Amino acid sequence: MDNKIEFTITENGCKNIIQTSHGGYLNLMYLLKDKLLLDGFGECGGVGRCATCIVKVSGIQGSSNVKERNEPTTLSKIGYSDDDIRLSCQLLITKDLNESEIEIIDY
Ligand code: FES
Repeated sequence: MDNKIEFTITENGCKNIIQTSHGGYLNLMYLLKDKLLLDGFGECGGVGRCATCIVKVSGIQGSSNVKERNEPTTLSKIGYSDDDIRLSCQLLITKDLNESEIEIIDY
């Protein structure tokens, strides 16, 4: 089975093509921290409470589109309710991300 997942990350106007594999990282936040060396990103370690890992997504599929647990509460506290704004720590590295576009949002 082909496990390859490829998607685009935009940070400060720069596009990066990311290639990884299913489950290659615990979640998207850890991948972004590792690949882009982002300071102050993902401060709560992925429990969905700090809102330092916000991304704007397009083209993700399947269950990755469902916001669960703390995510909607944390995002609404800082004024986000749009479906395309997500906490990257709540997105797993699965095929759902293949060919998606992800933009890092300043917080
Ligand atoms: S790492 Fe804290 S909300 Fe995502």
